[in-house]
Amino acid sequence: MKDTPINYEIVSQKIKEMNLPSVGKASIREIKRLIDNIEEATNIKFVRMEMGVPGLPPAQIGVQGEIEALERGVAAIYPDIDGVPELKPEISRFVKNFLDIDVDPVGCIPTVGSMQGSFACFLTLNRIYKERDTTLFIDPGFPVHKQQHKVLGQKFESFDVYNYRGDKLREKLESYLSKGHIHSILYSNPNNPSWICFTEKELQIIGELATKYRVIVLEDLAYIGMDFRVDYSKPGVPPFQPTVAKYTDYYILLISSSKAFSYAGQRIGMMVMSNKMFELKTPDLLRYYPTDQLGRAMIFGTVYALSSGTSHSAQYALAAMLKAVNSGEFNFIESVKEYGERAKIMKKLFTDNGFRIVYDKDEGKPIADGFYFTISYPGFTGEQLIEEFFYYGISAISLAITGSERLEGLRACVSLVQRSQLPALEVRLKKFHEHHPL
Ligand SMILES: Cc1ncc(COP(=O)(O)O)c(C=O)c1O
Repeated sequence: MKDTPINYEIVSQKIKEMNLPSVGKASIREIKRLIDNIEEATNIKFVRMEMGVPGLPPAQIGVQGEIEALERGVAAIYPDIDGVPELKPEISRFVKNFLDIDVDPVGCIPTVGSMQGSFACFLTLNRIYKERDTTLFIDPGFPVHKQQHKVLGQKFESFDVYNYRGDKLREKLESYLSKGHIHSILYSNPNNPSWICFTEKELQIIGELATKYRVIVLEDLAYIGMDFRVDYSKPGVPPFQPTVAKYTDYYILLISSSKAFSYAGQRIGMMVMSNKMFELKTPDLLRYYPTDQLGRAMIFGTVYALSSGTSHSAQYALAAMLKAVNSGEFNFIESVKEYGERAKIMKKLFTDNGFRIVYDKDEGKPIADGFYFTISYPGFTGEQLIEEFFYYGISAISLAITGSERLEGLRACVSLVQRSQLPALEVRLKKFHEHHPL
């Protein structure tokens, strides 16, 4: 028994009380509960890096827009399923300004968080071609997307991109797509959990293969613009957020407001269907929808059936935020840069104490500092490390639940770690290093 920063017996007891088959493989919410319990019992605050929630106040322009809409009485009225007329053109302008792509407002649809957008896509895209019943995930990824497949009873396959960066990605992707059973491909960029960002070359490979095999790319831009190595913050001015949409028409973008605008609580996101995908007609859709057109099936079939649209007032919040962003009045990227700055300091504290960054490069270039980073410690599996961390007042999640094959790794999220906690993190990491000499 060591002199650990958090009382050894209490931590062991609390872990036992949770009755988990494996602490290292526990879900994010289970880990959250366990840490809450330990904090309560010891009265010592953890450095909490397990949950990917925004750690900044919501964009005020959104809050104001929403209050005004509520005062006008929108709460009493059903919103248009495909989005209010004030919002749709702003989404279209937003993707023009920040991705440099042209999408008609008709294909710009608000969803109840990006989470509903992905759910609606999986549900619908599984039905466009009878013979295609599987989604391909380029992992590591966000575990809830797989959970969505499980509750839908749908199939998915995945591979860890760690060993398939750059040109190697083509052959790997083609080994799946050439079989003819994949209807769509999903990845997030910047990536949750590893914060890798695909290069233009990689996006081009994905785009070319999507067109070749008529597979729809679901590009999850939950962290749009947050590769802080490059300044993507000026509307309508290059450089633009890299996107597969530059290389194929076979795409649907999923853009969350949760992190970019710190607006997670109101559950509003955007689904952006390329003009070609909106118009895509497949007779197999008629098995489930009164239309053979993908855009109409998505809106008036799936989104209607799921929630009959998205909260009326939240749509006005998003419209107000996008309007301000599009006109250059509100620099949303500037307001989330703090995550990158925090990550830079935290990564150094870890590496100075013997830790390694697991996903460390984008085709030879060091990865950006942002919302997440991945760590390992020699001699530990991710599962062992996560459990050991609890005795040092640190929490994170195992990469094992993200589809990563790097089983030694953990994901650390910077958003809830306050700058005032960094000295405590340093002391705890030093202690860890001292107790586990390399
Ligand atoms: C990669 C990724 N996609 C989607 C989401 C969910 O976004 P939303 O809050 O808009 O549903 C998250 C949230 O953490 C995420 O990390």
